[in-house]
Amino acid sequence: MTYYKAILACVAVIFAELVFADDATSNPALKQFMATVVAPASNVVFGVANEAPKDDAGWAVVEKNALLLAELAKQIQKMSPADHDAWDRQVGLLIERASIAATAAKSHDADKISDIGNDIYETCAGCHTAYPVKPK
Ligand code: HEC
Repeated sequence: MTYYKAILACVAVIFAELVFADDATSNPALKQFMATVVAPASNVVFGVANEAPKDDAGWAVVEKNALLLAELAKQIQKMSPADHDAWDRQVGLLIERASIAATAAKSHDADKISDIGNDIYETCAGCHTAYPVKPK
């Protein structure tokens, strides 16, 4: 659990800067945060569809990253832009689905994680469609 807590501590520091941005949909810091923190955590969950973990330690890594993803989504939720309906909907689904993935990892259920991984990906794409990524 120390690994998870250490990452959350870093996330809290990063978000101390992010939440003060005026426009969440044109935010280089958010973009970088997505690319360096959110995407790696989700990739661990998505990866189970290609290759399921072989041992308890491997499953524990998947579980931690799913929990982390749910936690990251809660932070993203605080950054709703002015037009926030689609934002709140997609981020709400992400929290729910990342939590389901964490539970599935706990019970070593690769099929469940593959399914929920697709649903998680839909929440990423859903928000990116509603709030297109701005060029630099
Ligand atoms: C609630 C909205 C929302 C959700 C959910 C969301 N994102 Fe994002 N994401 C954004 C926004 C907004 C940007 C663009 C920020 C900008 O361009 O200033 C972005 C940018 C990105 C980028 C950077 C793209 C680039 O061109 O550099 C990546 C990578 C990314 N998101 C991955 C993900 C992944 C993976 C998920 C799902 C696990 C996800 N995002 C879920 C809102 C969201």
